[in-house]
Parts: sequence; structure tokens; C-alpha cells
Amino acid sequence: MAAPPPAVAVGCLACHAPHYASDGGCVDCHRGDARASRPALAHHRLLGGAAAAWGLPASPVLTRAAALRDSLGCRRCHVTGGKGERLAIALDTVVWARTQAELRQALMRPALAMPDFGLGATGADTLVAALLRDGDRFGGASRYQVRFRAGSEDSLQAFARLCGGCHQALTGEGRQGVGTAGPNLSGLLGTFYPAAADSAWNPERLERWLRNPRAMRAGATMPPVALKPGDLDVVLRALALPPPATPAVPGR
Ligand code: HEC
Ligand code: HEC
Ligand code: HEC
Ligand code: HEC
Repeated sequence: MAAPPPAVAVGCLACHAPHYASDGGCVDCHRGDARASRPALAHHRLLGGAAAAWGLPASPVLTRAAALRDSLGCRRCHVTGGKGERLAIALDTVVWARTQAELRQALMRPALAMPDFGLGATGADTLVAALLRDGDRFGGASRYQVRFRAGSEDSLQAFARLCGGCHQALTGEGRQGVGTAGPNLSGLLGTFYPAAADSAWNPERLERWLRNPRAMRAGATMPPVALKPGDLDVVLRALALPPPATPAVPGR
């Protein structure tokens, strides 16, 4: 009696050893095409490295990713995991539509109005794991387009004159300022700007800061700003945020 021929490994297992088998199939975490036998096709839209950790039930990568997302303040401009300001594209709606290379590129060589966080490939992939975990895999999240109000000239001019030489900010009126000496102020007065809970920014705190940064932070390198009456109000108007997302429930 001839023994049955040995099973021929197909798909990913033709070339790779299995792992994390109890957490799903290869393409659940990595995407790719399990019907293909040539690597270039099998690896179609592959997620590799830290980015694949999005699919692990509990992974230190995801803990690190969430901490990085919050310390860099991604949500002061983007919605991810349903939370964030609407100053730039909602990451939930696009992250699954992109390739890993596109996402790396977006993070490592950011668009004009996005700060350069100096991320390398590993940092970018780590963030991508969190974005994928929180994003809408099947594209059902409500979509919105970012629309900037036509600028109210006085607030923009005040920001440009008083702050814009050292700071930039994406605001409800578009990108403001050209400076790089100070941090990007996008979303300063919102919930997602990276600041300790007991020192979140509000108009009063900002006014005290502008009058004398060193009184609030020893060794601060920002010089005091001489504010004329009305200046603070127009700067606050320039930094105002678009209204939060309204729930997409029909009939409301
Ligand atoms: C014909 C052999 C072959 C098949 C089939 C194949 N791979 Fe690969 N895979 C490779 C080789 C060789 C490498 C290492 C070189 C490279 O990255 O292309 C690799 C690398 C990888 C990596 C690491 C890449 C990274 O960026 O970290 C992952 C993840 C991966 N494969 C997943 C898969 C999955 C999932 C499938 C099935 C959908 C699959 N592979 C099918 C040969 C294959
Ligand atoms: C639950 C999610 C998950 C599943 C399921 C999964 N992987 Fe992975 N894979 C990962 C993660 C995360 C990594 C990154 C390194 C690590 O954590 O081990 C990875 C890394 C890899 C690598 C790169 C190897 C390395 O050590 O650098 C290959 C190749 C790979 N996986 C292939 C596969 C194949 C083939 C299958 C199906 C048998 C599979 N994976 C199933 C999450 C998964
Ligand atoms: C100051 C605002 C701002 C901050 C902060 C910011 N981004 Fe962005 N980001 C943008 C803008 C602007 C774009 C270009 C797309 C657009 O106009 O909405 C963009 C694009 C992206 C894209 C590409 C989107 C696509 O369509 O493919 C990704 C991914 C992304 N950002 C991730 C992040 C992550 C992760 C963080 C935190 C580390 C972050 N961003 C922080 C403003 C910001
Ligand atoms: C001459 C350059 C300069 C000008 C002009 C300037 N800033 Fe700054 N700003 C800085 C620098 C540098 C820092 C970093 C301070 C530090 O921590 O050492 C900073 C920090 C800040 C911070 C603290 C941010 C944080 O994350 O802790 C706020 C808020 C701020 N500036 C608001 C403003 C506003 C609003 C204006 C205009 C009214 C303005 N700045 C004008 C240089 C400037």
C-alpha cells in the first residue's frame, strides 16, 4: 500500500512558518493574498513589522503606540478611534485604504500643515498599529471633508504678526504662521493638545503665558508678547477650532 503523498503547503505557509495561529489567519493580521504563490503577489498590501501588531489581542506595541499618539497630539488635528479635532482628514476613514508604504511616507515626510515629528520607520509602524486598530476596516465611518472658513483677516493678521514668526498652527481658517522656533499650536485650546491635565491651555492661562512665559515655566525660551487691548481676542479667534463631529444619525 502506497502512503498518501505528503500535503503540499500552500499560500503563506509555503514559505513561512506559522505563528499566532490562535489569534487568526495570516491575512487577518498581515493582509496579503493567500491564493498567490509568488511573493510579490502574496505580499499585496502586506502589513509587516510593528504595524501587524494591530491584530494582536494585547501587545506592548499597542500600548506604546497609544502613548506616542497622545504625547505627539495626533488628535489635535485628526479623528482616530472616533476622537479628535476635525482640522485634517479623519484617519479612521482612510487608514485601511492605504498601503503601509503610504502611511510611513505620510508620517515620515509629513504634509505641509502636519508637524514633522522626526519619526523613523519603526516609530511610524508603531503608530500605524494603533491607527489600524482604531480605524474603520470596512469603510463605514461617516466621512467629512475639512472645509476652512474664509479667513477673518484681522485675527489671521494678528496671529501672523504676533505669533507666526515662531509658531505654526492649523486652524479653522487654514494653516497659519511660518515659524519653527516654538511648538505647533494646532488645537491648543482643545481637548487633545498634549499638556498635563493640570496645565491644559485655556484663554486665561494663555494670557498669563503671553505676558510672561518664565513666570510659568522656568527657563522658557519664548519672550513675553506685548499685547495691545483686543490682541488676545483676535489671537483666540484665530486659534478657534471647528465644531466637533455631529453624530451621523438620520433625523437629528
Ligand atoms: C513564495 C514564498 C512566499 C510566499 C508565498 C509568502 N511569502 Fe512572505 N516573505 C517571503 C520572503 C522571501 C520574505 C522576506 C523578503 C521580503 O520581505 O520579501 C517574506 C517576508 C514576509 C514578511 C515580513 C515583511 C516585513 O515587512 O516585515 C511578512 C509579514 C510576510 N512575508 C507575510 C506573508 C503572508 C501573510 C503571506 C501569505 C499571504 C506570505 N508572506 C506569502 C516569501 C513568501
Ligand atoms: C494576530 C496577528 C498575527 C497573525 C494571525 C499572524 N501574524 Fe505574522 N506577525 C504578526 C506581528 C505582530 C509580527 C511582528 C513581529 C512579532 O510580533 O512577532 C509578525 C511578523 C511576521 C513575519 C516577519 C517575521 C519576523 O520575525 O520578522 C512573518 C514572515 C509573518 N509574521 C508571517 C505570518 C504568517 C505566514 C502567518 C500565518 C500563518 C502569520 N504571520 C500570522 C502578527 C500576526
Ligand atoms: C497640526 C495638525 C496635524 C497633526 C498634529 C498631525 N497631523 Fe497628520 N496630517 C495633517 C494634515 C494637514 C495632513 C494632510 C491631509 C489633510 O490635509 O487632511 C495629514 C496627513 C496625515 C496622514 C495621511 C492621511 C492620508 O490621507 O493618507 C496620516 C496617516 C497622518 N496625518 C497621521 C498623523 C499622526 C499619526 C499624527 C500624530 C503623530 C498626526 N498625523 C499629527 C495634520 C496633522
Ligand atoms: C520670538 C518667538 C516667539 C513668538 C513671537 C511667540 N512664541 Fe510662543 N513659544 C516660542 C518658543 C521658543 C516656545 C517654547 C517655550 C519653551 O518651553 O521654552 C513657545 C511656547 C509657546 C506656548 C507653549 C506651548 C506648549 O506646548 O507648552 C504657547 C501656548 C505659545 N508659545 C503661544 C504663543 C502665542 C499665542 C504667540 C503669539 C501671541 C506666541 N507664542 C509668540 C516662541 C515664540
